[in-house]
Amino acid sequence: MGSSADDATIPLRAQEHFVQSPSFTGADLHGRPDPKTPPVDFIAAMRQLASSVTIITTGTAEDRRGLTATAVCSVSAEPPTLLICVNRTSESHGAIERVRHFCVNIVAADHDDLAAHFAGRTGVHGVDRFDRGEWISLVTGAPVLADALAALDCRVVSSVVCTTHTIFVGSVVGTHIGRTQQGLIYRQGNFLALS
Ligand SMILES: Cc1cc2nc3c(=O)[nH]c(=O)nc-3n(C[C@H](O)[C@H](O)[C@H](O)COP(=O)(O)O)c2cc1C
Repeated sequence: MGSSADDATIPLRAQEHFVQSPSFTGADLHGRPDPKTPPVDFIAAMRQLASSVTIITTGTAEDRRGLTATAVCSVSAEPPTLLICVNRTSESHGAIERVRHFCVNIVAADHDDLAAHFAGRTGVHGVDRFDRGEWISLVTGAPVLADALAALDCRVVSSVVCTTHTIFVGSVVGTHIGRTQQGLIYRQGNFLALS
C-alpha cells in the first residue's frame, strides 16, 4: 500500500503495519515467468562478497538476544538511518519485533571467537551468549559491546518481510566509537582481519 497525505495523521507505530512486501511477480513485462538461479549458484556467488562482521543485539536484561550478521547497510546520513536483514527463525527476530530496537556492533579482528559464538557455533543460545564480552548501553538499552570498533543504537521505524528474512529499518539514536583496531571481514566462509 502506498502512502498518502492522510498517512501523516497516523502514528508512526501504526503506519508500520501498512508496509507490505512488494509483490514480486517473478515475470517479465510480457508475463513470461523468470527463471530462478539455483540456490547453490547464488550461495557460491555470494561467498565472494566480503562483508564487515557485526553483532546485532536487542532487548535488555534477561531478554537480551543477539546474532552475528553481515546483512547491514547504511540507508541515509540525514537522518541517520540503516537497515538490517534478520532471519525470521532467529531468537533475535522475535525480540526485535517486541522491543522495536536493536544495536549494530561493528566488531574487531580479535572478536572472531565472539562472532562465532553469536553465530551459534558454540551451541550457546539466548541471554547466555552475553556471558562473553563487556556490555554497556546507550539510548535504547540494547547491549553495546564496549570494545567494538563502533556501535549504532537504533529504534525500528519500519520493517518489511522478505522471504525468510525481515528487513528492519533503524533510526540511529546513539553512536559509540570504540577502539581503533583491524576490522573483521567474512568471505568464503572465513573470518579475516582487515586494516
Ligand atoms: C559471518 C556471518 C554472517 C551472518 N549474517 C547473518 C545476517 O545478516 N542475518 C541473519 O539473520 N543471520 C546471519 N548469520 C547467521 C546467524 O548469526 C546465526 O544463524 C545465529 O545463530 C542466529 O541466532 P539464533 O541462534 O539466536 O537463532 C550470519 C552468520 C555468520 C557466521
